[in-house]
Parts: sequence; C-alpha cells; structure tokens
Amino acid sequence: MLSKENTETLCRVGPGTVMGDLMREYWLPCTYSWELTADGDPLRVRMLGEDLIAFRDTNGTPGFIANNCPHRGASLFFGRNEEAGLRCVYHGWKFDAEGNCVDMPNEPAESDFKQKVKATAYRGADAGGITWIYMGPNQQNPPGLPNWEWCQVPENQLQHSHKAIYECNFMQALEGELDTTHVYFLHSRLDPSDAPSYGLYAPDRRARLEIVDTNYGVMYAARRNEEVGDVYYWRTTQFLFPVYGMFPGGGEDGTVPLSMYVPIDDEHTLHWGLWWHPSQPMATFGKPKQQKLNDTGALIGGVGPMKPHQTGRYFADWWPEACMENDFLMNKEVKKTKSFTGIPSVRAQDDAVITSMSAIMDRTKEHLGTADATIIRVRRRMLEAAKAFRERGITPPGVNDPELYQVRSCQAILPKDVSWQSALDDWHYCRTTEHPTGGFKPVRSVPEGGFGRGTRYAQGQ
Ligand code: FES
Ligand SMILES: [Fe+2]
Repeated sequence: MLSKENTETLCRVGPGTVMGDLMREYWLPCTYSWELTADGDPLRVRMLGEDLIAFRDTNGTPGFIANNCPHRGASLFFGRNEEAGLRCVYHGWKFDAEGNCVDMPNEPAESDFKQKVKATAYRGADAGGITWIYMGPNQQNPPGLPNWEWCQVPENQLQHSHKAIYECNFMQALEGELDTTHVYFLHSRLDPSDAPSYGLYAPDRRARLEIVDTNYGVMYAARRNEEVGDVYYWRTTQFLFPVYGMFPGGGEDGTVPLSMYVPIDDEHTLHWGLWWHPSQPMATFGKPKQQKLNDTGALIGGVGPMKPHQTGRYFADWWPEACMENDFLMNKEVKKTKSFTGIPSVRAQDDAVITSMSAIMDRTKEHLGTADATIIRVRRRMLEAAKAFRERGITPPGVNDPELYQVRSCQAILPKDVSWQSALDDWHYCRTTEHPTGGFKPVRSVPEGGFGRGTRYAQGQ
C-alpha cells in the first residue's frame, strides 16, 4: 500500500510537480521520426500535461512548440510549416524550432517587438526511429540521449511493434510491466495443450523473486520450477528510469523487448513497444504493422488495431480500438473456450486491467504480496529519486550517463546451482551478442507460447 500523499507525488507529472520535474530531466520518446516530415503537417501531441505542436522544419530539425501562439493564443496546429519555421495562421507571426519569433508581419516594420516575444519550445532529436523531446530547463545544453543498443543496430534488427494510448496514469501501466506473475494468468491460454497462439503457459505460476538495485533502476529475476531436470526457469526484467521496462527477452527468437510508458498527462499514457535483435536481421522490422481482429481467439499483435484518425485530439492516430467503451473487445465465446480473458491481444489485456483500476489507482486500498515486491521497490526508487532531486538537487539516475542504457533482459534455463547474475550479466549488459545458454530451451510437455514468438527472427528459430 502507498499513502495518498506518496501516490500523488508518484503519479502527478504536470509542470512544477515533484515527479514532473524528475521527468523533465530526461529525453522522452514522443513521435516516430517518420510521423514528422520536413515542412510536413504539424501534429498535436501532449507530454507531461503540456499541449504541444510537433513539427519538422525545412532543415529537418524537429521542434515542439506550445500549442497556443504567444500572440493571442490561436493553436499553432493550424500553422504553416514553411521556410524553417511555423507561421501562425491568425496574424502571421512565425516561430523557429527554438521558439524564437522570426517574423511579425502585422507590426510596423521598424518595430523590434518580435525580439521580446518567445514561444515555449522544447528540443527534439531523432534516434532509433523515434523523435525524442527534452522538456527540461537546460534547453541550450541538454543531456545526451540514452545510448540504447537498439539505437545502434542496423535498421533490419529493430522492429517498432506498437504504440497506443492507455487511458490511465503511467505508473500503473509501468507497474504492470514489472509484475511477473500476471503473465501466466492474464495472458494465458485456458488449456495448456491447446495451440500456443491462444496465450502463454508455464508449469509453475508461483515465481520467487530476486531483486537488485542498479544504477539505472531495478533488475529482478523470477525463478520458477521446471517439469524436468535439476534446473530453474529464470525470467529477468529490467526497470530503467524513468519510464522503461523490459520484460524477459533473449528467448526462443533471440529478440529483446522494450516497453515505454510516457506520461501524456496524469490520466493518459503513451505506451510503446519495440523489439530488437542484438546480432541478426529480423523477419519483420521497421514501422508497426496494421493488426486485424479475428474471432478465432488467436492473439494478435500489440494493442490490436487503432481507431481511425481521431481528428482534433492529440496523438490522433494512436487511440486503440479496444477500450473501456467496448469492454476491450472481450469475446465471451473465446473466454469460455480459448483464452483466460477473451481479449484479443496481450497489450489490450494489459490495458483492460490497468485502465479498470481507475485513472489514478487508489493505492491505500491495495494488498501487496510477495509477488509484488518489484512494484514496491520501483515505487520507492522513483519516489526517492524525485524527492532527492527536489530537495537536494541530486541528478536522477541515468540522466548524465547515457551508457547506462546498454541493457537487456533475458529468459533462460539454468542449473539450480548456478547464479543467475553470473550466468546472465554479460548478456544483460550487452558485453556479448551470444545468448548465455544458446537460447531459451525448456524441456516441456507443452510450449510456452504467446504472440509472435519464433516469427520475428529471420532464421525462423
Ligand atoms: S494568434 Fe498567432 S499570430 Fe496572432
Ligand atoms: Fe502483461
């Protein structure tokens, strides 16, 4: 349980809040790079409770500028993106990507008023197929972008699998990523002997957790028994400040996942999913693929299909079809016969439960058990870091250490007497591209399953 006061501190991210200030120290992913084209259409986005207009200027520089024009407040969404700036359509004032007013054509030519006007604007930068935003105070000298392995690999080793808006606070979305035991319930198939495409299965659903603090966040290993052999099944998960989670990767197909939970505002989260392979081309790579619903119960990718372009809303292309208004497309027949939930994709299943908690979950009413130890630890680390920054000016983890983001997660079968950290850390810290056990190779009567396993890897392993 968490007090009301700490819940507020943990979850609220608007300007001037404790957690909002921490978030503003980091670069955050905002749009795919391909969504912004030079002199192309501006996009409405909202980040950390601030409505912004994203655009890419004539020179290819991404810019994020406050929605309301500093003159009389018209939305710069309607602006003309031309000749290295965004020109407000109301009276023609023009702003460059840094927010400088570079033209004020309705004022006398001799006026220097434009020198005195500046729009709120934030730095943008491209890496790994994403346009990132830095909303912190050091706009002239921002920190380096996190140096992820997936930002360095060739294009055909990176797949952006999905992006979608969750209608709840970022923290409960992130907590779901760090909650290992839900996987073999929420995302499971009803009958283990049924096709793996209906959901996951593991013989042991009572994980024992080992949690370690790291200089970028928290890592934990979940230990499970296997059906045969003197071995354990280890699933390692990473939390990286401030919004990143890696569920276990490096499995059958050798790929590693990253999930990102960016606060849009206190009650909405921009969730991103991507996969990369440290050394091999993948079967599918690049942009997210359109997902189609089916009524067979076989899981589909990501959060499922998106609603049509939501004209007038921020992140207009990323509102998922599955939502509270349609019970997340729960199919009651599929729920009776195939999957634990009847909801069509793993991420829609996540979305249903985290959104159902209410926009900001009341954590004074929860009852956390041993399986929730990682959630407790991550909350504590986030609160400590945010308060240390506010009260003592201590730079939050990772801000000045982009190399700390060279991290992976893992799933592996290890002999019972082998330490998971000594066996897996070369992999965890990108010191090798060879999976420590040659892959995830359990000896089981039925496969683990889930969406997409074995289809991402070009070699079809
Ligand atoms: S409101 Fe934008 S130029 Fe007047
Ligand atoms: Fe999940």
